[in-house]
Amino acid sequence: KVEGNDVYYTLTAQEGETQILPGKKTKTWGFSAPLLGKTVVFKQGVHYHIHLVNKLPEVTTFHWHGLNVTGPIVDGGPHAPVYPGGSRDIDFTLDQPAQTDWLHPHPCPNTARQVWNGLAAEVIVTDPEEAKLPFPRNYGVDDIPIILQDRNYHDNQLDYKADYDMDGTLGKYAVINGTINGVFNVTTQRVRLRILNGSNRREWRLHFDDNHEFTQIASDGGTLPKPVELTKVMITTAERDEVIVDFGDKKPGDEVTLMSDDVPILKFKIGNYVKQDVKLPEHLNTIPKPVVTPGSKIVHTVMSGMDDQVKLDGKLFDMQRIDRKQKIGDTILWDVTNTNDMDKGMIHPFHLHGCQFLVLSRNGKEVYPNEHGWKDVVGVNAGETVRIAVKFSKFGIYMYHCHILEHEDTGMMAQIEAY
Ligand code: C2O
Ligand code: CU
Ligand code: CU
Repeated sequence: KVEGNDVYYTLTAQEGETQILPGKKTKTWGFSAPLLGKTVVFKQGVHYHIHLVNKLPEVTTFHWHGLNVTGPIVDGGPHAPVYPGGSRDIDFTLDQPAQTDWLHPHPCPNTARQVWNGLAAEVIVTDPEEAKLPFPRNYGVDDIPIILQDRNYHDNQLDYKADYDMDGTLGKYAVINGTINGVFNVTTQRVRLRILNGSNRREWRLHFDDNHEFTQIASDGGTLPKPVELTKVMITTAERDEVIVDFGDKKPGDEVTLMSDDVPILKFKIGNYVKQDVKLPEHLNTIPKPVVTPGSKIVHTVMSGMDDQVKLDGKLFDMQRIDRKQKIGDTILWDVTNTNDMDKGMIHPFHLHGCQFLVLSRNGKEVYPNEHGWKDVVGVNAGETVRIAVKFSKFGIYMYHCHILEHEDTGMMAQIEAY
């Protein structure tokens, strides 16, 4: 429902059934859909009123990963339970730039299982500035959400308990937008992929089977300062990479396959398309240089361990404890360290709610070429310290944690009060 600048929306966490394996039905969960959910599109400047309904047999929450909204209730972290059969109403004015975010549950300690069951949807934010850039934006035609997940099936059903891994549950099937062996029919020369790593743990190393080039145009928090030409990209859990693939060198009938390592994950079948000659501008977006608040101290935060030994700053999550405070408007450097053994330790993807940050260095060195834009997740490699610049603009308590969902559920999570 739309009333002037107010938009009313209902979202239901529900059970359903989906055909994923040939001819069989799998019990799945989704947001107002049997699995995953219809992409939510928000416009900058609009005031949204959202009625959240829980039709699941257990408590859940509705977390807007990447949205910069006020306080823990609207944000939908563990502070904002919606009980089975219950509902909750939230509202916020969308005041951030165009970007690809996502919606997922965040009830401690059941986030991992609920996401595994299917609760995840893409959230697209649009704004008038980004709308001027020559990006494909015809949703479903040349602007496509791509949710990367991996799953296992037991007699066609998910069985989270059976597959559970403390270090992040992995599946042997690549399930892309809820589909195995998916095919996308290309009908335009350029296709924009809004890639979301919605996996519990897996990092995806994406490339095309013919090493076709693609151009990254956006990261978690929106448009990059410059387009970044790539032939492969690594995406850790919860990150978003928007890329444009130009199939102008292909002819109808050609096929190109998107791979992760040596596993085919999505086939692109080239159809008839109209030739176009679009060049992306050199400059896409202005990202201000962070100005660190004079006299402020560097925050040190440490992600340590694997398995049942994982800790954040040497502790496990406690909802009654505020772990840090940061003043609204201050820009503070955070050094985020992963103390795992460089050779055999795993990546901990660090995520902060309530803001988008800038990644400044990795072990004092240059960051990756696609890390020059706004981010809310950064993969911190084993033995590495990543320096980020953090600024909050809204009051409230926000979570920060490892985004390997099983690590988060074990307690590799803490809270910061922005005051
Ligand atoms: Cu993607 Cu604390 O969340
Ligand atoms: Cu989040
Ligand atoms: Cu972790």
